[in-house]
Amino acid sequence: MPFDNVTITDNRTNRTYTLPIEHGTVRSADFRNIRTDPADFGLMTYDPAFVNTASCRSSITYLDGERGILEYRGYPIETLAEHCSFLEVAYLLVFGELPDRTELQDWASEITRRTMLHENIRKFMEGFRYDAHPMGMLVSSVAALSTLYPDAKHVQDPANRLQQIKRLIAKIPTIAAMCYRHGVGFPYVFPDNDLSYTENFMNMLWKMAEPKYAANAVLARALEVLFILHADHEQNCSTNAMRSVGSSQADPYLSLSAAAAALSGPLHGGANEQVLRMLEEIGSKDRIPAYLDRVKSGEVKLMGFGHRVYKNYDPRAKIIKWTAEQVFRVTGRNPKLDIALELERIALEDEYFIERKLYPNVDFYSGIIYQAMGFKPEFFTVLFAIPRTAGWLAQWDEMHRDPEQKIARPRQIYTGERQRAFLAIEERQAIAAAKG
Ligand code: SDX
Repeated sequence: MPFDNVTITDNRTNRTYTLPIEHGTVRSADFRNIRTDPADFGLMTYDPAFVNTASCRSSITYLDGERGILEYRGYPIETLAEHCSFLEVAYLLVFGELPDRTELQDWASEITRRTMLHENIRKFMEGFRYDAHPMGMLVSSVAALSTLYPDAKHVQDPANRLQQIKRLIAKIPTIAAMCYRHGVGFPYVFPDNDLSYTENFMNMLWKMAEPKYAANAVLARALEVLFILHADHEQNCSTNAMRSVGSSQADPYLSLSAAAAALSGPLHGGANEQVLRMLEEIGSKDRIPAYLDRVKSGEVKLMGFGHRVYKNYDPRAKIIKWTAEQVFRVTGRNPKLDIALELERIALEDEYFIERKLYPNVDFYSGIIYQAMGFKPEFFTVLFAIPRTAGWLAQWDEMHRDPEQKIARPRQIYTGERQRAFLAIEERQAIAAAKG
């Protein structure tokens, strides 16, 4: 590269400026030097929804949207999904390296012994209506954990952060299972420390009167793979919320509650629930063309399709499709899969989707599996939040370690009025009366 910089001419002043290029970016702050006179504030960059803005340096997750590549700490997602347990991947995200056997055993032990919840949380959750949306329950309950761990406010202490990271990774499945049991009116099930992370989650979901819960190995592995696929995804909307709220030095429980709230949106993690509702609305293959006409007219979106970064097939969707077949051997085939496969086939041949580079994303097939496992659509995003907790926390910890990071506070382009003359209420009333 001859020069890693860019030269800009300000045609207002005919002055030129040379800005350094680093990692394919120019520092936004460098534009402040481009002024019309010394009193001028200088130029800002304007990027609604951060479509083209890097907010941080991170070594956690690498995405190549054009090639459909996803790596956690440099390991391809396909390799991790095939060979690892979820806790192994959570360790990788948090510490940056895959654990050896001893490290993994210690890590699993540290998580396992923190799965119980304070009785206050149980009583708190009993206050929700029988039909409360589980994401509303999860977001609220995670925030409520903040009141039980006041030490968590010491966010600049790495050891303290790790303590909270362990607590949250351990407790999020317990909270999630309690949301599920609340929704079906069953008593809560205590964690069983003899079981693996995923098997224990299944135990807290589905154990009834039997003395010991025995997880179906195929379903346990499928959940493990789904958890690995959902664990992190660089600077997505909810991770941005985690970093932004965390940047004010809010504790990790309140920050993660905000991240989960962001995830609940239908354009983000809430899409998996909307995909199922879309497939139910379509109902049969022969009604796919009519639905796609509504998508192309802009009336509805094809939920589970499209991505801000992937302009190719989401690598996670490919693995989820394969996992679906494993699950269906146990649960029986979910007929929604046939509609989804036909919908994908038709969409990928349609110019509207081709020119916009719209492909299935992680949410397109995951809900079909979850439904086959017996989950209701409103619970699907909870199943996304559980593993993403590890990613949110790894990103939050990385932010606190980054000397360049400080409280997030964007600027704006002000479009409102200025210096308006104040009118007393009587004068305003008189004007309104005059207008009749
Ligand atoms: C997740 O960011 C992450 O990494 C997220 C995630 C993670 O792991 O954290 O990967 C998880 O959130 C996956 C995305 C789940 N959401 C959905 O499936 C909802 C449906 N998808 C869309 O809402 C949309 O694709 C987004 C929100 C995912 C991305 O939106 P962008 O990047 O803002 O793209 P855009 O809205 O600017 O779309 C570009 C064009 C537009 O058409 P034109 O205005 O140019 O004519 O593509 C169209 C859009 O209308 N378009 C769609 C579409 N997605 C984009 N048209 C129909 N159906 C869609 N799904």
